[in-house]
Order: sequence, then structure tokens, then C-alpha cells
Amino acid sequence: MKSLTWILYTVGLVLCAADPDRATRPNFVLMMVDDLGIGDLGCYGNTTLRTPHIDRLAQEGVKLTHHIAAAPLCTPSRAAFLTGRYPIRSGMAGHGRLGVYLFSASSGGLPLEEITLARVAKEQGYATAIIGKWHLGLNCENSADHCHHPASHGFDHFYGTIMTNLRDCQPGHGTIFNRVHDHIPYKYINIGLVSLALLHFRGVITVPRKVVFGFLALIGMLIILFELMVYTFPNFNCFLMRGAEIVEQPFISENLTQRMTHEAIEFMERNSERPFLLFFSFIQVHTALFAASRFRGKSQHGLYGDAVMEVDWSVGQIMQTLERLKLKENTLAYMTSDQGPHLEEISIHGEVHRGHSGIYRAGKSTNWEGGIRVPGILHWPGVLPAGKVIDEPTSNMDIFPTVVNLAGGSVPSDRHIDGHDLLPLLQGQVKRSEHEFLFHYCNANLNAVRWHPSNSSAVWKALFFTPNFYPENSSACFNTHLCFCIEPFITYHDPPLLFELSSDPSESTPLTPETEPKFYSVLEAIKGAVSHHTQSLKPVQMQFSRGNLIWKPWLQPCCSSLSQLCSCERDHQTGMPNHDFQKE
Ligand SMILES: *[C@@H]1O[C@H](CO)[C@@H](O)[C@H](O)[C@H]1NC(C)=O
Repeated sequence: MKSLTWILYTVGLVLCAADPDRATRPNFVLMMVDDLGIGDLGCYGNTTLRTPHIDRLAQEGVKLTHHIAAAPLCTPSRAAFLTGRYPIRSGMAGHGRLGVYLFSASSGGLPLEEITLARVAKEQGYATAIIGKWHLGLNCENSADHCHHPASHGFDHFYGTIMTNLRDCQPGHGTIFNRVHDHIPYKYINIGLVSLALLHFRGVITVPRKVVFGFLALIGMLIILFELMVYTFPNFNCFLMRGAEIVEQPFISENLTQRMTHEAIEFMERNSERPFLLFFSFIQVHTALFAASRFRGKSQHGLYGDAVMEVDWSVGQIMQTLERLKLKENTLAYMTSDQGPHLEEISIHGEVHRGHSGIYRAGKSTNWEGGIRVPGILHWPGVLPAGKVIDEPTSNMDIFPTVVNLAGGSVPSDRHIDGHDLLPLLQGQVKRSEHEFLFHYCNANLNAVRWHPSNSSAVWKALFFTPNFYPENSSACFNTHLCFCIEPFITYHDPPLLFELSSDPSESTPLTPETEPKFYSVLEAIKGAVSHHTQSLKPVQMQFSRGNLIWKPWLQPCCSSLSQLCSCERDHQTGMPNHDFQKE
């Protein structure tokens, strides 16, 4: 028996020695910024906004220039990132207009059957944490079942917001529901009422008084309910949790990134002796914009630029901590954005609060390149080459299998995984990305397909529909604040709009059968891939059904009594870090 143990032990040692990556089992620091544009970073060509720490990450690591978010919106993109699967496979894609959660008391969210990279890492003995934005649901049945909470998805530690930052989360930034106001058909209600009154007094019809009062009361009630919703929105939806507890409701944005950075540093210090996975999911640079006082007014690009500088500072703090803990050589760091910049963001004071998509067309909520082409930097000194640039198409879904394999887990075989392990490409063992086709959804609608044929350097992209931009000549959906991907907000194209991205990365000139001899054969190949892909989809519960999107009062998390409007500030004592941040 003893000798058997010895044999096993020796075999184990030999296996480990033969596979150095497995033996090292790196830590993971995954950093995702919200709504950051690829054109906002120095290392992606910005010359006027300073991002030295992120640039350094790129200099010392690998920079992906063709890195694609799995969706142009927060919730689905993050679901795909954590699971390595197209959001449609987990039901995290809607059929209606709305593609993200707006209420913390909605019942939809990332289903428990999904396997996240955190869950796999945790099973492999990693300490796991998410700090920052979640946006993948909270409760199912009651206000504390936490069925979709990060803790149910493999994160031991959580400090952050269940929802996203929104204009409504901060006083003085207006409300996203202005648009809803615009959509309440006051005009028609008035016309209806006036005509009814005229007909009544002319004696054409007789409307009983009760009906008139009932009708007016109903409209009044609806308006009051709506205003009440806007009024309570920050308290109900903008709160900070530590673990399962609400610690600040509504959250205070002052020093929020500083506090989160502090929390991240503490997590790494606490776990420096064991493998850890940290998902730092920045609340910035989504509106309502904020920046700590030491960054305000420091950039040439208003509050938006200041916020980007603060993110960059935070990345620097994280990397310096790894260095101080002597973990830099043993940590795979990744930096990205969940999607392109939100081009429609102009503050209520008229200040530009949007990022920059560089040479790419349009932005967030579209599948033009500007909506999904995101920064992608991977850093692991000694294992990944320094200063390497890779132009092959890659996806944010690739992080899942990459992390799973490095952590010593196995990629689930009972389901379709759409990402591919990036390590061979990053290390130069292979030259080509395994993504021959990438499918681009807008909510649950297949919007576009990218094809990188295995024998060519071309990257074809066919768009089946595109958003209608208003006003003309704009490349943003100012009227609706986001581009929607259903009629009447889109235009279908048959044949699809076709581009070849390696020669036309800005998607400026659609190809035609006259300008492109391969026009029909390319579309034919794409059609075949679509039918193959569509067959691989299994029916799942839709997490964006109406029932899963609406506000359900019994799911409302609340840290105090309702009469106090669910407000509290338990985080106050630990709120401001007394931690000395390292000098740059
Ligand atoms: C740099 O980023 C800012 C903020 O998004 C943008 O306004 C500016 O145009 C960018 N500059 C360049 C040279 O890309």
C-alpha cells in the first residue's frame, strides 16, 4: 500500500513538472470597467487622456486589438464573461426592448445551473471575490433568498452593488426615466379627454360622472405611482452590500472607487498565501459619473476623463499590491470593458459624459464595432510575452476556459462553451484564434456574424439589421438614450450589410457583389454557420421575460424600515480607508 502511495506521488510530481502551468496555478485578477471606450486608453491610441498604469500593463503583457464583448450591454456581456457562453444560452437575453435589469427587486438573473469561473476556481481551492458591480440579479422568491447573489455563483466575498450605477443613483444627475416621461402619451390622453368632454357637452354621447372621475383618478394614480418610483429609485436600487448584508443604501459615490480599491487590496493581502481570484468590476465610468476629489478637474476631458484617470490609478494600486506581495509573477491579470462607450450620455448640464470608441463605428447597445470592440490586456510576467500585440479575433468569453484550465479545473462538458482557452495564442504556440465564427446578439436577436476563415487573414462581418440613428448623420440613438434592437427602431438588411474588417475596420463602406467577388460565397458560408449555431441552442427559461423584469415589492431588499425609505449607512466607520495608498 505504501509503495502505491509513493508511485502515485512520484507520478504526480512528474506530471506537475511536465506541465509547469498546472504546477504554478496562478492567481487571477480580472478587471472590468463599465462602459469604457477602447479609444479612451493611451495604449489603444488615445493621446490626450493619461492612463499610464493600464498602458504599463499592456507594455508588460499582451494587448488584444480585436477583442470582442459577447454583447453590447452590461448584463448579458457579464453573464457571458463569467460563464464562457453566449448570453442566449443561459436565458440572459431579452426579446423586448430592455436588455438589462433596472430593479434590484426583479426576479431574473444568472441561473444557478450556470457555472461561473468563480465557482470553478472556488472548487479548486481558490479564495474568490467580486468587488464592484454585479448586475446579474439578486432574489427569486423573497427579499433575502439571494438565489442570484454573487455568493450563489462561487464568490466567497462580495463588496459592491447588485445593480448598476445609474443617473438616478446620485443627486443632481437627473433620471433615466425622463425618457419614460416622454413616452407617457400625455398628448393623446389630453386629446381623448377634450374630445370626450366636447362630445358630452354637445349631447352626442352622455358620459356618466362616475366614469369621468374614475378615469381621472386612474390616470392620477398612475402618475403618482410613477413619480413615487422615480423618487424611491436611488434607495431601492442603488445600494452597497458586503457579503449578504446591505451596508449603504443608497450608496454614496464619494470615494467609492477608493473604498473598493482598498477592499481589493485587503482581499489580496489576506489571501497572499493561497491562490485567489479577484474580479474587480468597476462602478466607473458608467453615469452618473463621479471621481474622487484628487482626480476632479485633472483630465482634459471633464468628469469623464477624471473618472478614467481614477480607474487607471486603481489598476495601478492593484498591480503595485501584487508587486509588494511578490505575487506579480504568479498572477494572471486581465483588463477589459464590458462593452463600448455609451455615446448617448450627455449630462443634464450638457457636459459630455461618454467615452470614445476610437476608429470604430457607434457604441454601446449596438453591434457595430464601437459597441463590442473592447480593450483586452493580459499580463503575466514570465509566462506571457511582454509587449506582444495580437490582432486575431478573441472574445471576453475566452477568459472562462482560460481561467478554468489554469486553475486546474475542467471545462464543463455537459453544455456548450463558446469561449476558447487563450493561453496557446497568447504564448505564441498557435498563430490563429480558434474563433472562426462569432455570433453577435442584440438581446435575443441575432444581429451580426463575424467570420475569420481558417485559410485567410480576412475578417468578414455581416449585419442582419442595424439601429436607426436619429437625428440623421448621428451615430448614436439620442432619441431613446440606448439603441433598441427591435422594430421600429431598426432596419433589416437583405442581403445583410457586409464588411471586411481588416481593410475597413470602421465599417464605412458596405461591400456589394460588384465590389466584392466573394460577396455571395461569404454570405453563404455565414448562413451555414448561423443554422449550425442556431441548432446548438437549447430552450431555457428566459430571464428577461416581463415577469422577470418587473419590480416585485416582495423582493425588495431593504436595510431599514420602509418608513425610513430603506436607507442606512452601516459602512461609515470602515467607509474611508485609513489604509495608506502607496505613492505612485
Ligand atoms: C481620448 O479620450 C477622450 C475621452 O473619451 C476623447 O474625448 C478624446 O477624443 C480621445 N482622444 C483621442 C486622441 O483619441
